[in-house]
Amino acid sequence: MPLFDVYPLNPIKVSKALGSYVWDHTGQRYLDMYGGHAVISIGHSHPHWVSRIEDQLQKIAFYSNSVILEEQRALADKLGKLSGKPDYQLFLVNSGAEANENALKLASFYNNRNVIVSFRKSFHGRTSLAVAVTDNPAIVAPVNKNDNIHFLPLNDEHALQDFFTKSGDKISSVIIEGIQGVGGIREATPQFLQLIRSLCDQYGALYIADSVQCGYGRTGRFFSHDYAGVNADIYTMAKGMGNGFPVGGCLIAPHIKPKHGMLGTTFGGNPLACAAALAVLEVMEAESLMDNAIFAGEKLMTALQKMSGIKNLRGRGLMIGFDVEEEHAAVRAVLLKHYFTFTGEAKPNVVRLLPSLALSSIEIDLFIENMQQALHQVEANAPTHSAS
Ligand SMILES: Cc1ncc(COP(=O)(O)O)c(C=O)c1O
Repeated sequence: MPLFDVYPLNPIKVSKALGSYVWDHTGQRYLDMYGGHAVISIGHSHPHWVSRIEDQLQKIAFYSNSVILEEQRALADKLGKLSGKPDYQLFLVNSGAEANENALKLASFYNNRNVIVSFRKSFHGRTSLAVAVTDNPAIVAPVNKNDNIHFLPLNDEHALQDFFTKSGDKISSVIIEGIQGVGGIREATPQFLQLIRSLCDQYGALYIADSVQCGYGRTGRFFSHDYAGVNADIYTMAKGMGNGFPVGGCLIAPHIKPKHGMLGTTFGGNPLACAAALAVLEVMEAESLMDNAIFAGEKLMTALQKMSGIKNLRGRGLMIGFDVEEEHAAVRAVLLKHYFTFTGEAKPNVVRLLPSLALSSIEIDLFIENMQQALHQVEANAPTHSAS
């Protein structure tokens, strides 16, 4: 049976991984500066994560949410502590789209409204409401079209204020990534997030902080939204939460009260997923990985700043983006093919770096060396412009 062909594939058969490296079936090692799309938080196949999952498998892998699952409670305690939001409530799911879907639905249950504000170039997932609040018509099917969603320009305080002034009493929620990932590493300013907070308070709307890509310590704070110094009503999480084990969740502010049957899931919060997620938090704490994200991010930024051929360097911690000249857009392919280095992309010429939070100085030096060589190679092969 053929696979449903929805992904352009790199011709690489990965067979094992450890830390910031991945190996293919021939034994070739690759430096992973992409973390499988920001998923690898504590490093591939971290021994503590492996043994936590193995131990849990020996006990119980799954039971439904109809019984007390102690692993969920242990995860909620640890998450409350590390995120600095111990009074929030945890609802567990399996992916980022599902977390956003539930957050948007919960907001609508909360205030009985149906208008949602989202932002240009946002990405929130591929399920029905999550894709409807995503600013990419190419991935929105006719059945997902929703007239209640309004896209505003990111960081445009006037547009936001105007929209609230006109429609504030109908707005259920505002959903925003602290740093847009798929949109090309575009950061919401602290002032903009503060304005969202105050307008939501004024008009009774909920502020949903999509932290699926920019959260879980990646920027050096647990949620990148924390840099604005205000709290969101709901934080959505996935990706780094399980270090590759599928798990996601919503952190829900205490004023949002649950009702039985309001939300639900079969697989969300299963003991195996909780064990993986607990292992991630334990390693983040034991190895001070949020501090390392800041340290490694600064080192990477400093080295990249000195490199010619790179423009508009931006980001925080280990969520970094930069542009390359259009004629050098092949640099990612060259990095992969000749310098065995995975990076991420955003259209048109943005390179995204989303490595493990445990990235070491040796790995940074190796990446910089590879990047320099790859840039020289594409510059040498780029068509020369004739002087006019
Ligand atoms: C900011 C953001 N939100 C939501 C999602 C969707 O997550 P998932 O693919 O786990 O459904 C993504 C995935 O890239 C994302 O970057």
